[in-house]
Amino acid sequence: MKKPKLITNKLPTVLAIDTSCDDTSVAITQGWVVLANVIASQTELHQKYGGVFPTVAKLAHRENIQPTIDLALKRARLSSKDINLIAVTQGPGLAPALEVGILAAQQLADQYRLPLIPVNHLEGHLLSPLAVRKSRGPNFNQQFAHHLPALSIIVSGGHTQFVLVEKIGSYQVLGQTLDDAAGECLDKIGRMLNLGYPAGPIIEEFAKKGNAKAYQFPLPLTTTKDFNLSFSGLKTFAKNKLAELTDNGQKVLSQQQVYDFAASAQYGVFRHVTYKLTKILETHQVKEIWLGGGVAANIELRKMIRKTIKPLKLKVPYSKKLCMDNAAMIGIVAGSQLPMIGQQHTTIDRQPRLVLTNTANK
Ligand code: KG4
Ligand code: ZN
Repeated sequence: MKKPKLITNKLPTVLAIDTSCDDTSVAITQGWVVLANVIASQTELHQKYGGVFPTVAKLAHRENIQPTIDLALKRARLSSKDINLIAVTQGPGLAPALEVGILAAQQLADQYRLPLIPVNHLEGHLLSPLAVRKSRGPNFNQQFAHHLPALSIIVSGGHTQFVLVEKIGSYQVLGQTLDDAAGECLDKIGRMLNLGYPAGPIIEEFAKKGNAKAYQFPLPLTTTKDFNLSFSGLKTFAKNKLAELTDNGQKVLSQQQVYDFAASAQYGVFRHVTYKLTKILETHQVKEIWLGGGVAANIELRKMIRKTIKPLKLKVPYSKKLCMDNAAMIGIVAGSQLPMIGQQHTTIDRQPRLVLTNTANK
């Protein structure tokens, strides 16, 4: 076997790919610094289905992958010869979608004889608040410090988790949703209100015009001692309340009622997250809180969390693009795994149900 070559003098330039769901994303990163982060969105394609249609996603990924790779290199002002390492999302995600990214990554690694690193998409969301803008300068990697242990909150359309980060790469899942994810719950309630897909960002806009106390959503799991979450009760409450308000579909809601309902549902979902967060902070000493995932783009959620964690600081991704599914977060995970990097590339199997395993104390 060839001896692994350790890259010590210069941070490797990573080309990262994420095709876990409905966005084709390719990024170029160096350490924590993002040189380019291109996302080819499929939202419009899936809108008519009211959710992501896996075979449609696969075809669109196939069409988009090469132009997205080319555009990422162009935006980073690099050529494929400047890349030292390929990283790709192995899971979790939709199997047919993951397959396209993995195949493209394997082909690039073969063609340029580069190491290939499989990355857990959830670790990507987890580390996304640590990504640094290119404009902050090339020396920022050295200056940048985060404070550990930290508590990471991942809130996306597929996952909702509290993870204790002892050090980068060493994780303990403290709690997670037992059913729907926070974003999924907002999307489902949005669907009941005919808001389109994904409904999370529309609910945020509508909520600004509504009264969050108009409808009292229940606070789930207050008697359990663990830090798990459950959003299905909120969904059921929404369904029953809407049936009552519309006389089982006989009447339509007024625009103000829709705003109030969006505000109340959003408040109900976020109050559940901050309630469990309070419980964690009563029993765990952490130095800062990180927030990642699509729902992390929501300003009201950030406000509610900041209020809950005072005087601790909340770290959020530097842009909305870094909150949603993107490849920059995959690149920085691979970058953070140094100096183990250097193996010859291997074959990667997609893992649609990959979880974040407890690696603390190992
Ligand atoms: O991280 P992401 O792009 O994909 C997954 O890995 O799931 O998250 C998508 C989720 C969707 O449920 C979407 O409705 C939600 O994030 N989302 C938001 C906002 N932007 C996206 N939810 C609330 N407020 C937002 N501004
Ligand atoms: Zn995601």
